[in-house]
Amino acid sequence: MRIIAIAQQKGGTGKSTTAQAIGAGLSHRGQRVLFVDLDPQGNLTYVLGADQSKATALDVLTGKVTAYKAAQAMNAGELPGMTAAAVIPGSPYLAGADATITGTGREYRLAEALKTVTGAFDVCIVDTPPALGILTVNALTAADDVIIPCLADVFSIQALGQIADTVAGIKANCNPRLKISGILLTRYTPRQNLTKDTADILGDAARKIGTRLFNTRIRETVSLREAQAMGKDIFSYNPRSAGAEDYNALIEEIF
Ligand SMILES: Nc1ncnc2c1ncn2[C@@H]1O[C@H](COP(=O)(O)OP(=O)(O)OP(=O)(O)O)[C@@H](O)[C@H]1O
Ligand SMILES: [Mg+2]
Repeated sequence: MRIIAIAQQKGGTGKSTTAQAIGAGLSHRGQRVLFVDLDPQGNLTYVLGADQSKATALDVLTGKVTAYKAAQAMNAGELPGMTAAAVIPGSPYLAGADATITGTGREYRLAEALKTVTGAFDVCIVDTPPALGILTVNALTAADDVIIPCLADVFSIQALGQIADTVAGIKANCNPRLKISGILLTRYTPRQNLTKDTADILGDAARKIGTRLFNTRIRETVSLREAQAMGKDIFSYNPRSAGAEDYNALIEEIF
């Protein structure tokens, strides 16, 4: 099971949208996908229609239940076209994780827990909150790769340096396997000059931290919002939309 974290401490850069779209796209390609929502906001949980009253990611991190037990199978009715997808939902109580998940080995809780599901899924997609606290640290400690979604703005570029330092620290101390898969430019508006310049700067910033800016850019498109509002993934909602086209291209580039 390949574990992919989606992380960026700046808020609203398209982490949850990207987590949903990549997982859905791989599921449509026949892969067995496990989504893990580590964000107290529970946005991924919501768009996937998972039940937060059952065992959540917090129960998994605190060792109350195994990841295998917490994984809710998503049936055909909920996510048409998907094969063997499941989700471990987020919970508002994850907001207290920095205070409640303590002690030695606190970084390894997710990595350890996911060992119970390695045979059951091909890919695990972990969505994280807009922060570099213990939840994101757990995601990065468990992950093989991290994808970093960025907007074409200076705050995203500023955030990139901080997350690169975090990744380097985790690589050195907890997870030598961890690799930045790439920086993903999201909500891209090709006609704005500023976006163009910032995209170049993002590319330079990516190279400085030893990774790349993906060739694929995710355009700003209402189709992604509409799909989320309808409780569908972008490929089921409209396979010919700009959102489906861009996320398909991203999946082809990465996998
Ligand atoms: N390519 C896109 N085009 C249009 N809207 C988008 C696109 N990507 C994301 N959005 C919208 O932008 C908002 C933020 O996206 P999303 O929730 O995926 O970001 P996030 O990084 O997960 O945010 P947070 O940091 O709060 O977890 C959402 O309303 C989402 O529907
Ligand atoms: Mg999110």
